[in-house]
Amino acid sequence: MKLLKQLALAALMLAAPASIQAATKPGTFTTGDKTFLLNGQPFVVKAAEVHYPRIPRPYWEHRIKMCKALGMNTVCIYVFWNIHEQREGQFDFTGNNDVAEFCRLAQKNGMYVIVRPGPYVCAEWEMGGLPWWLLKKKDIRLRERDPYFMERVKIFEQKVGEQLAPLTIQNGGPIIMIQVENEYGSYGEDKPYVSEIRDMLREIYKPTPNPSPREGSFNSSSTKFSENKGNQSPLPWGGEGGGLLLFQCDWSSNFEKNGLDDLTWTMNFGTGANINDQFRRLGELRPNAPKMCSEFWSGWFDKWGARHETRPAKDMVEGMDEMLSKGISFSLYMTHGGTSFGHWAGANSPGFAPDVTSYDYDAPINEWGLATPKFWELRKMMEKYDANGFPLGASSPSGDKRGGKLPAVPKAPMPIVTVPKFELTEFATLMTAMAGDGKSEKGGLKTFEEMDMGWGTMIYSTRLPEITSSSVLTGEFHDFAQVFIDGKYIGKIDRVKNEKSLTIPAVKKGADLTIIVEGMGRINFGRAIKDFKGIVGNVTLATETDDAEIVLTPKNWTNMAIPDDYETAKNALDMVKGFNNKLPDMKGSVPGIAVTRSYEESAKLADFMKPGYHRGYFNLSKVGDTFLNFETWGKGQVYVNGHAMGRIWSIGPQQTLYVPGCWLKKGKNEVIVLDVVGPRERIVWGQAEPELNKLQLEKSNKHNNIGDKPDLNSASPVATVPAGSPAGLTTAAPGNGWQTFRFAAPQKGRYLAIEVLSTQKDGDRVAIAELYLQGADGKRLSREPWTTKYANSEEENGNHTGDKVYDLQESTYWQTEKSAAAPHLLVIDLGSEQTVTALEYLPRAEQGAPGSIKNFKIYLY
Ligand code: GLA
Ligand code: CA
Repeated sequence: MKLLKQLALAALMLAAPASIQAATKPGTFTTGDKTFLLNGQPFVVKAAEVHYPRIPRPYWEHRIKMCKALGMNTVCIYVFWNIHEQREGQFDFTGNNDVAEFCRLAQKNGMYVIVRPGPYVCAEWEMGGLPWWLLKKKDIRLRERDPYFMERVKIFEQKVGEQLAPLTIQNGGPIIMIQVENEYGSYGEDKPYVSEIRDMLREIYKPTPNPSPREGSFNSSSTKFSENKGNQSPLPWGGEGGGLLLFQCDWSSNFEKNGLDDLTWTMNFGTGANINDQFRRLGELRPNAPKMCSEFWSGWFDKWGARHETRPAKDMVEGMDEMLSKGISFSLYMTHGGTSFGHWAGANSPGFAPDVTSYDYDAPINEWGLATPKFWELRKMMEKYDANGFPLGASSPSGDKRGGKLPAVPKAPMPIVTVPKFELTEFATLMTAMAGDGKSEKGGLKTFEEMDMGWGTMIYSTRLPEITSSSVLTGEFHDFAQVFIDGKYIGKIDRVKNEKSLTIPAVKKGADLTIIVEGMGRINFGRAIKDFKGIVGNVTLATETDDAEIVLTPKNWTNMAIPDDYETAKNALDMVKGFNNKLPDMKGSVPGIAVTRSYEESAKLADFMKPGYHRGYFNLSKVGDTFLNFETWGKGQVYVNGHAMGRIWSIGPQQTLYVPGCWLKKGKNEVIVLDVVGPRERIVWGQAEPELNKLQLEKSNKHNNIGDKPDLNSASPVATVPAGSPAGLTTAAPGNGWQTFRFAAPQKGRYLAIEVLSTQKDGDRVAIAELYLQGADGKRLSREPWTTKYANSEEENGNHTGDKVYDLQESTYWQTEKSAAAPHLLVIDLGSEQTVTALEYLPRAEQGAPGSIKNFKIYLY
């Protein structure tokens, strides 16, 4: 109540003069000659992308006002299917999911709304917005005309329509445009699918005959779009027959793949891009179409294990200024990024690069809603343009005489507070949850989805036969696996690092093998969005005797599923607290497992007992936003007063979680941490600033830190002669001995990347014994300063890491793991920029040159 009063007061104090009035009467939004038309008048969209689930509801209006203070006239939102339908058929549009209320708040503040209802949204969001339960149908074809997928999409879109269709501009609401699908070009080429989504949305958002239409807009008796192209809409792709304007967004390089004739096309590109170039092709195809950058990337998102991303304010502001000076519409993605609370952060691909909890994005309005230096620079530029996006002054078609003044910047809804260090003393092992909410099944290995669990952790356990020497355990672990034998920690298999196997010591008959697998966000980009969690497929153990390789495939497993939610965590802790010594003894069902009361006791008993729930409390005399620091913790999830705050992981770069004051209270506040690894120290404190850029990477002999992997998508491979093709594909010959590949022209760069696409013998793992580079004079460069920057896969067992290609030893070699799939990448840091004219390569010295490479690409950058 108190908070509501405060917010209401803040809103009153801020009441800025609305420079434009959003339509409350029915209106139109269409395309005209090279411009959008709002109620028939030229209009440049200046949209601010913000995501309602990434902002606590009590702060929605503040953030909208912040966007308005930047001179924006529109907010652009995605609708996130999986947050609204977390269980098939159960819809939730209340509380923080009340998307219609978000749109009404925008309208109240004089802002129009662009809605992007998916079904797929990307957005660094769990599975790109698709619900995980779709994967219960294993062979489902996502984002295709799979009957089940399309059926569920339709039901969802209709539900969204019930919320939002009354809010279109034609119905007097703020919604001016609706997006069809999202960047389909990076997924495939499928116009029939995109057309079906279009037709679905067109039907849901068709003009309703009841509101009295404005003159010259749609014919209320007709809802057929083939007819009545309307005098408002001279172009085939804009505001069909006076209906809601439907559009598609994609990259300029691929929008033609799925571009539908009757939809408006918009381009996505980032800060620093050449704007004329981005619209060149569109201009050729549709010279009279309005231009819009539907996602102008203000910054970029962060991934676990890689540095915090930023983009210069100057480039962003200049790009936006250029667009406005040319009458080009835009949506600034993100204007305010916010937070991917709970388990909603997604993961990028190729590979597996899960996103951190903060979605700050280096946007002008920071994660916690305040103006950054970028904000002020942008605001200054935006003052040159009027509410409808035209340069101020006599030439402004809208006649805006505001004189460059933008609405005042609203005060933050809450102060920032700090919290002194406190300890989380209560503890319950992860297994305790099995006595409560967990679910267990015996038999073959099961994924999360097969256990009917969306998010959480699974404990897999089996008994092994005797294995007299060490063996290699291999499988697909999604995403972070820890392996224990008889309760003792053996090692981890980390998908972020492309790991798939682990060497385990000899074991006695009946030894207990337990694997704890924590799922992270499902991939949200590319074909890999079909991202099952847990152990996918079989786990094998391969061991060698004198004359044979023996591969064991354990078949009898206990699958235990522990969902990631507050109830599960709280129940586990309460059970330990309440029952004390009377705890159920679980020794019988799972070997080596018991429930203990304290972390110390557990840690002493067995490594296996370290993963678990920790609880502590802190007191507030004054409520406010804070940043809780978790840098002494391992990996997991945090809940504050029952709100899922997000993932933590010691590797960084994010070490603090944004905790909004609206979810805190005066007096005692509860913090629960599920740490699947175990903390260094069980302390937490609240600081006044976030820590988004502190990496604490482990030292390992491997070179697979995600932050070191170059993005070669836009790089061009070196052309070689005579064995190379012009496209930069080089082919090596079979057999032992040195081979030299001369470059068509000298290349400069500090880093050498070798991307191996295939080996001479299919199915071989890649091996390279030695590499040299020749300089401008044709002589070998010194390899003294060389270090390995990145290798996607290295067989550590036997010491086949990347550095073996420049250790002078022809008998030592870089070799990839058996389980890792091509292409393989090795990146060497040459220490400083070099001019290179040729590459010399030596395969393994053994008979037949095992693992020798065939097709590969060379990069210098
Ligand atoms: C694309 C997607 C967005 C988002 C950005 C990157 O443009 O459409 O949803 O993923 O990339 O932040
Ligand atoms: Ca070597």
